[in-house]
Amino acid sequence: MAFLEVRDIVKSFGGLRALQDVSLSVEKGEIRAIIGPNGAGKSTLFNVMTGLLSPDSGEVRFDGERISGIPPYRVIRKGIGRSFQITNIFPRMSVFENVQVALFSHHRENRSALTLARNFREVTDEVLAVLGLVGLADKFDSSASVLSHGDQKRLEIAITLACRPRLLMLDEPTAGMSRFESRETIALLQKISREQGLTLVFTEHDMDIVFGISEKITVLQQGMVIADGEPAEIKANPEVRKAYLGEEIAE
Ligand SMILES: Nc1ncnc2c1ncn2[C@@H]1O[C@H](COP(=O)(O)OP(=O)(O)OP(=O)(O)O)[C@@H](O)[C@H]1O
Ligand SMILES: [Mg+2]
Repeated sequence: MAFLEVRDIVKSFGGLRALQDVSLSVEKGEIRAIIGPNGAGKSTLFNVMTGLLSPDSGEVRFDGERISGIPPYRVIRKGIGRSFQITNIFPRMSVFENVQVALFSHHRENRSALTLARNFREVTDEVLAVLGLVGLADKFDSSASVLSHGDQKRLEIAITLACRPRLLMLDEPTAGMSRFESRETIALLQKISREQGLTLVFTEHDMDIVFGISEKITVLQQGMVIADGEPAEIKANPEVRKAYLGEEIAE
């Protein structure tokens, strides 16, 4: 069985079928993009995969265990970190504090037996290590609100990484970034995925980025998987080209 298995997921909102029999499997360490036009169901699929929504039918299995239908805090404990399409940080706290809060709650949830003092020291080291990983160590003291949009997204990634996920799910990690910021963020994600053996599943509208880093791509359209495979196959797929009107996917 694959590391992450999505099987026959159906999810409706009233009369709207947002996901129709969606299946996909992701191997450990893989970088997988989930793409599709606006409203295709990408965020809904992320919400089902991370416990924010229960599917009407079908199941999600992670590392052999069924995770669909269990609440988000338990999904996180199983080793799945996620970021949202809209940045989710504490603007009034410093960069350091944002990651510190995430780490403290992670340690508490894991019922760490460390004493508070030892815990505090270890957390400080861990916060600095995570900030170093995303290139924000020199801004640890800045208020999160004054960061550039790109740096806020990096901070969100740091918060997600603080809980030591084995699978990182990022919904439009480069939304609203300049081209330069996007490229930097993607290079960062690629580096983290390689160095930490992290499995990465992400959604993205910029096709240069998608084809630049993905090992596999799943294409959704109107809640259905219309293609799934390696970038070269996806690029050549006539249905995919039609879905994108041939505009964004260059030869
Ligand atoms: N909570 C909800 N209630 C009702 N309809 C919803 C809800 N969430 C999503 N939808 C609908 O489900 C469909 C899929 O939405 P979703 O947000 O998953 O698309 P998406 O692929 O993430 O789009 P985008 O690229 O714009 O982020 C859309 O038609 C959307 O309007
Ligand atoms: Mg979305």
